[in-house]
Amino acid sequence: MQLDAKNIGFRYGKSPWLFKGINFSMQPGEVVGLKGPSGTGKTTLCRILAGYEKPLEGKVTLGGKALPEIGYHPVQMVFQHPEKAVNPRWKMGKTLKEGGRPDDDLLARLGIQQEWLERLPNELSGGELQRFCVARALGPGTRFLIADEMTTMLDAITQAQIWHAVLHLAEKRKMGILVVSHDAKLMNRLCDRVIEL
Ligand SMILES: Nc1ncnc2c1ncn2[C@@H]1O[C@H](COP(=O)(O)OP(=O)(O)OP(=O)(O)O)[C@@H](O)[C@H]1O
Ligand SMILES: [Mg+2]
Repeated sequence: MQLDAKNIGFRYGKSPWLFKGINFSMQPGEVVGLKGPSGTGKTTLCRILAGYEKPLEGKVTLGGKALPEIGYHPVQMVFQHPEKAVNPRWKMGKTLKEGGRPDDDLLARLGIQQEWLERLPNELSGGELQRFCVARALGPGTRFLIADEMTTMLDAITQAQIWHAVLHLAEKRKMGILVVSHDAKLMNRLCDRVIEL
């Protein structure tokens, strides 16, 4: 099932158009990079693709159909700052269940320890917490992952471990990934192609 962005345009309120006429497609299993200077609207476009924001022009379709408005979204996004993306009062086990039944093999590959499931977000390091956000986004219904600066704040070893696990799963499930990063080396290493905003 291909993900299509057709003629997407967006602006915040009365401010100038951030972008207009954005067209691209992603195939299952494809790893695509998205780059562009700060403030060009990469995160905004990601939010539109993941259904957090409605485009003012154009539409996003998956397999030719509009994305579902309720239920588990097949396009999942992981944000740069995991502490902003989780409920501070929920134990990690509960946060994880938001994405459907977690896959034990994936948890192990992401280096998530079972005892962390009983902890609150503030009882984990940034890197440990980000592993949960990645696991939550990779529920069984995910067809495309939008990784917006997903590993920017992590050390090189954690970054490599997370990407290794994600790419392994993407290959197994034929899941597409959009990688947003200012790290040209990372993009070149991971992506089949890179588009510019
Ligand atoms: N909720 C909002 N209301 C008004 N303006 C916003 C809002 N969110 C973002 N913007 C503005 O829209 C522009 C694009 O922001 P966005 O976060 O999409 O850029 P970006 O390309 O992801 O940048 P970076 O590379 O720094 O992450 C910025 O100028 C930002 O100030
Ligand atoms: Mg951004």
